[in-house]
Amino acid sequence: MVDRDDHRFPTRAVSWGEHPEETGAGDVVSPIHLASTYAVPGIDSEFKLDEADPDAGEFLYGRLSNPTRHAVEQRLAALEGGDHGLAFASGTAAISTLFFATLTPGDHVVAFDDLYAGTRRMLETLFRDRLAVDVSFVDATDTDNVADAMRPETELVYMETPTNPLLRLCDLAAIADVAAAGDAAFAVDNTFCSPALQNPLELGADIVAHSTTKYLNGHSDSIGGALVMDDDDLAEECYHLQRVLLGNAMAPFDAYMTLRGTKTLPMRMRQHEASAREIAAFLDDHPLVEAVHYPGLESHPQHELASEQMAGYGGMLSFELVGDMDDAAAFLEALSTITLAVSLGGVESLVELPAGMTHEPIPKAEREELGITDTLVRMSVGVEAVEDLLADLERGFAAMRELSERPLPAADD
Ligand SMILES: Cc1ncc(COP(=O)(O)O)c(C=O)c1O
Repeated sequence: MVDRDDHRFPTRAVSWGEHPEETGAGDVVSPIHLASTYAVPGIDSEFKLDEADPDAGEFLYGRLSNPTRHAVEQRLAALEGGDHGLAFASGTAAISTLFFATLTPGDHVVAFDDLYAGTRRMLETLFRDRLAVDVSFVDATDTDNVADAMRPETELVYMETPTNPLLRLCDLAAIADVAAAGDAAFAVDNTFCSPALQNPLELGADIVAHSTTKYLNGHSDSIGGALVMDDDDLAEECYHLQRVLLGNAMAPFDAYMTLRGTKTLPMRMRQHEASAREIAAFLDDHPLVEAVHYPGLESHPQHELASEQMAGYGGMLSFELVGDMDDAAAFLEALSTITLAVSLGGVESLVELPAGMTHEPIPKAEREELGITDTLVRMSVGVEAVEDLLADLERGFAAMRELSERPLPAADD
């Protein structure tokens, strides 16, 4: 029997967790199991509520366990290098389950101040305002700020790196030490990197969260989420929440799509990154761009940390255009190869304006304090020909020049 550690990452990405030979039909990929319920051997069998063990081929009811979901859970655990993987209906479902599993009223969380806006809103409006969990949002680019925010009642340290949309990093190994010293669980949302580029568990995190909607599925056609961890008790609590109390597990079709998506993850990530590096360099030199945020640029303040902590700089970048929101709108609306849409991590390139879209619910003053200006554009670089993407960006710059009655710098200025 092959152990998963016998296989390198790309091999695990293609096949770990799938057992198509069990169908007896010669399939080379596992079929989707859509059944909502399963025939059990007898009324006194062990197949009760959440006791049915998918590892032992025991399935009782689709919300509790499903072979396709089980396969993707095995795959995701193998890719992140953890003992337990759980697949959810969305990244948001995975993250909220993690918070419910680790937090009770009176507890305290230390979180990055530049989190995915939905996670920040969840912490503020659900856990803080309704469930009496206090939250400190800190600039975690400096580990001392995390250490200073720790309290005796801190139960969870929650980070993303690089962050959305400013591509700021935090030092995972150093923060893991701070969390361990404070006896707090340390969770990392690894959505922006995917396990192909960063392994938080290896760097000392206790739990990894994902929106599989993004790079793991990679084709913008499935919503899902995941948690991976080693701790048996915490995993048990998360499984109980997922299967019994919240009922928020990933559906079979999304599990199948995610299994399929992960097969090409390593090669997709290589292309996302190669193109992102080229686009970041192009934007960095452009007179209509005030600033580029990409960890692969030597000018990025945490370029060195990125080189140490990540196996590549990834496919996400953001940049600030000169001018105001009207200029940004003209730029974005002129693009035709690159789609104006929220989300990220798919094969097609997407752009969005955080101040007007994903981060619009955050008050303007607070947004600006975080560095999210009205002309900050976030780009998820896809796997199209990079020349076509660069030509499209030029179309955006041309539209800015046409719009502006103010003299904007010409291309060769
Ligand atoms: C970093 C990050 N985490 C979590 C989420 C939430 O994931 P989902 O939309 O699958 O619920 C997102 C969504 O954009 C994200 O970007």
